[in-house]
Amino acid sequence: MELPKHPHHSLFIFVFGLVLVFPSALSWKDAVTHVHQFVIQEASVKRLCKTQHVMTVNGMYPGPTLEIKNGDTLSVKVINKGKYNVTIHWHGVRQMRTGWADGPEFVTQCPIRPGGSYTYRFTVRGQEGTLWWHAHSSWLRATVYGALLIQPREGTNFPFAKPDRQSTLLLGEWWNANPVDVVREATRTGAAPNISDAYTINGQPGDLYNCSTQDTVVVPISSGETNLLRVVNSAMNQPLFFTIANHKFTVVGADASYVKPFTTSVLMLGPGQTTDVLISGDQPAGRYYMAARAYQSAQNAPFDNTTTTAILEYKSAACSSGNSSCSLTNPIMPRLPAFNDTPTVTAFSTSFRSRERALVPAQIDESLFFTVGLGLNNCPPNFNASQQCQGPNGTRFTASMNNVSFSLPSNFSLLQAHIQGIRGVFTSDFPAAPPRVFDYTGNVSRSLWQPATGTKLYRLKYGSRVQVVLQDTSIVTPENHPIHLHGYDFYIIAEGFGNYNPKTDSSKFNLVDPPLRNTAAVPVGGWAVIRFVADNPGVWLMHCHLDVHITWGLAMAFLVEDGVGKLEAIEPPPEDLPICS
Ligand code: C2O
Repeated sequence: MELPKHPHHSLFIFVFGLVLVFPSALSWKDAVTHVHQFVIQEASVKRLCKTQHVMTVNGMYPGPTLEIKNGDTLSVKVINKGKYNVTIHWHGVRQMRTGWADGPEFVTQCPIRPGGSYTYRFTVRGQEGTLWWHAHSSWLRATVYGALLIQPREGTNFPFAKPDRQSTLLLGEWWNANPVDVVREATRTGAAPNISDAYTINGQPGDLYNCSTQDTVVVPISSGETNLLRVVNSAMNQPLFFTIANHKFTVVGADASYVKPFTTSVLMLGPGQTTDVLISGDQPAGRYYMAARAYQSAQNAPFDNTTTTAILEYKSAACSSGNSSCSLTNPIMPRLPAFNDTPTVTAFSTSFRSRERALVPAQIDESLFFTVGLGLNNCPPNFNASQQCQGPNGTRFTASMNNVSFSLPSNFSLLQAHIQGIRGVFTSDFPAAPPRVFDYTGNVSRSLWQPATGTKLYRLKYGSRVQVVLQDTSIVTPENHPIHLHGYDFYIIAEGFGNYNPKTDSSKFNLVDPPLRNTAAVPVGGWAVIRFVADNPGVWLMHCHLDVHITWGLAMAFLVEDGVGKLEAIEPPPEDLPICS
């Protein structure tokens, strides 16, 4: 594992990381429990010539990489020494029957208060590849995030030749400000939050930004080698293109599931998504930029149009670190797609196939149709229009699914309310279809731009086979939305543009080898159809992974009932589960 230019990485792993590793569980021979401690603490981080005080795990930005094998158990004690409430979410981990460890604030737990702690304990089964973890409270995840690498189960191998080297590339987003202040300001004014000042690769903006060159991340490769790159979009609000000069990618996995290998010269990841690719050291020894920048599908919306870079550097005699003749050669810069290059995104996203024949449910019990999109609220009467209604034409931005703008409870978590039967925290009437049928991607009447607010869940029987059509709307603007479902992987069986048409579009369903994902990039002005079996009881958030949109309410939650017997029921809550009081 290479973590280029990650200061003190090995020291921190030594001190805080592998405190204790012992064999556990009888059923999973050789499976181990990895015990870690995450101390949430403020640290000074200098980027773009300025120092910011940001929240971190163990003083590291990005946070520590966790590396396990499929079948292993993680036990991570989170100690909050910061000044904000915090929770940690293990993005993409199924959390079978361990929903209490999922992490979204007020969904599966109350936040860990400053001074408090909570131990997340869960087992990863049947997932291999790259996932990640991040804070799931306010906008803390801007700096509180890290990789979760899942190597093949003990005694097994990759379904491709073992790579000579593995490198993790976390794409991030940086503000010359405290991200919590950025979102608080937006919530106050009703306007869109300030755009970021840089994108980052493993926390570093790279050569194209001020005061950043000396810390640009260097990723090593040797001639003739095959490297496995694990690319994660951990940015807050921006789908990103990613490419490397003169090198092709062979995509082998996404969201911790293997895919049928295909080659491409550019990736697009929505926030939340991961892509595992192989690259070969088949180019003349030298230095090549890897670069990421925005895929911006929303029209007329400001966005950060900067480019982050790292350097792929050949470890040859002529070009080893410290050899000035090599460092003097400027790395070759790749060509990146245009910001609005949707055809490239479509070509990429429709190339994914499961490696094995997929276990897609052929029959479905629940056929759901959810609109996803933005909205504008008229300025409430008790608001100061000039200060608190700075959205378009004196409005406030909002967002919704099926016209419900999701609002989190504050006195109990949804899961606690469900398990303990506490009334008045949520209702179970999230609609199976939008309350009004309209031309979703056409010219939408202004009367449909203002959603209702609610804490509405959709109830699913244990084991039910579910299909959800995710339909973008053109309200305010159409946009590619990365829709993430907690607690599940789902098959993406089809996607397309315009309004989904059940009569004609079902002929496009791939029920043979569709990709298994935890986050679907719903095409701009289009739709995606997902299927899953509700085999994991609990309360599971589904939301747009653009944090600006979840802030505005682009979310809902499924309540999956227990089935029959202990093995089909959620485990009892851990004793240290934070409660709200
Ligand atoms: Cu990666 Cu609800 O989050």
